[in-house]
Amino acid sequence: MRFATKAVRYGNEPDKATGAVSPPIVTASTFAQEGVAKPRGYEYSRSGNPTRERLERAVAGLEGARHGLAFSSGLGAITTVASLLGKGDHVIVCNDVYGGTFRLFSRVFSNFGVTFTRVDARDPDAVSRARRARTKMVWLESPTNPLMVVLDIRAVSRSAKKDGLMVVVDNTFASPYLQNPLKLGATISLHSTTKYVSGHSDMIGGALAVSDEGVYERLKFLQNAMGAVPGPFDCYLALRGLRTLHLRMDQHSKNAQAIAELLQSDRRVSEVFYPYLADSPTYSIARRQMSQGGGMLSFRVRGGYKAAERFLESLRLFSIAESLGGVESLAEHPGRMTHSSLPEKERRAMGITDDLIRLSVGVEDAQDLLDDVRKALESI
Ligand SMILES: Cc1ncc(COP(=O)(O)O)c(C=O)c1O
Repeated sequence: MRFATKAVRYGNEPDKATGAVSPPIVTASTFAQEGVAKPRGYEYSRSGNPTRERLERAVAGLEGARHGLAFSSGLGAITTVASLLGKGDHVIVCNDVYGGTFRLFSRVFSNFGVTFTRVDARDPDAVSRARRARTKMVWLESPTNPLMVVLDIRAVSRSAKKDGLMVVVDNTFASPYLQNPLKLGATISLHSTTKYVSGHSDMIGGALAVSDEGVYERLKFLQNAMGAVPGPFDCYLALRGLRTLHLRMDQHSKNAQAIAELLQSDRRVSEVFYPYLADSPTYSIARRQMSQGGGMLSFRVRGGYKAAERFLESLRLFSIAESLGGVESLAEHPGRMTHSSLPEKERRAMGITDDLIRLSVGVEDAQDLLDDVRKALESI
């Protein structure tokens, strides 16, 4: 079966009891048993819920994994994966990892004796060099936020696996349609399903895909033991979103590519970051591991913060908002919005300058979006 068929079918089998062709939302917290300690399949919804299991099956199938696990948020999924680590363990984290992941390692798990090192993971050898005796995990994100750096998941996974390390890839920006980290050698693929998976900016959720049985068993235990599980309504929304993931990602990618090319040709723009631009330094890796460029891009305008602010406030179709991955186009200023909690020095070192703008390109008509961007550029 090809992706589109899987997206429509997986986890969407007609309900056995009623024949309903869309998944019933099973709201029960507990399930009647046949007798003492004789469950019919479900006992308690934190441990297992039929609507959640449909989502878990769908995520696993679309990632080419044996197992899926769903969570109440992307950070719930991240926290659960980080809980595979114990006191004294060490993680190698790619440089511009999602801020919430960095905050979790630096301000929460550090209190429990987990240490971490940030590395420029564009160089797989730098990842190997950062290894210590107690290193257990390598944490990648690709493309990265907000500068859309594409990391070579296969190369990093190959050397990490030789060293016996788990490789976690935050696959939120690409979605399972554009990139499958497990097929490139990663151990776990992670999603904030809040973004492209659900796709309509109307829920918060997370998911993991994993094939290694031992790692799955530990994560399944932690999912129940830590309890960051999603409610059945949110599972339903994520499942409904998945049915059209391929259609949306095709349009997101087409629109973003057109906008990236327009920006690149405009003298008011000094730099454009998009995985599928032929002169991007990581273009060849992107072509190898992603089937299209996706809906996220960023760029620098000439004229500093004032020009960036004028551009953002002149947009009519793009709403100024954080988050990403919904059908509607959004624009934001990373320095003052999504990444404002980072100290200025660190922001600058990461290339998050005052002239940087990030777009989450939606699925509206490409021509309308191009007109909106063109007009906003004229206001600079
Ligand atoms: C790449 C990435 N991973 C994880 C998360 C966290 O997901 P959530 O907001 O669903 O907890 C986000 C949120 O912005 C993200 O952008």
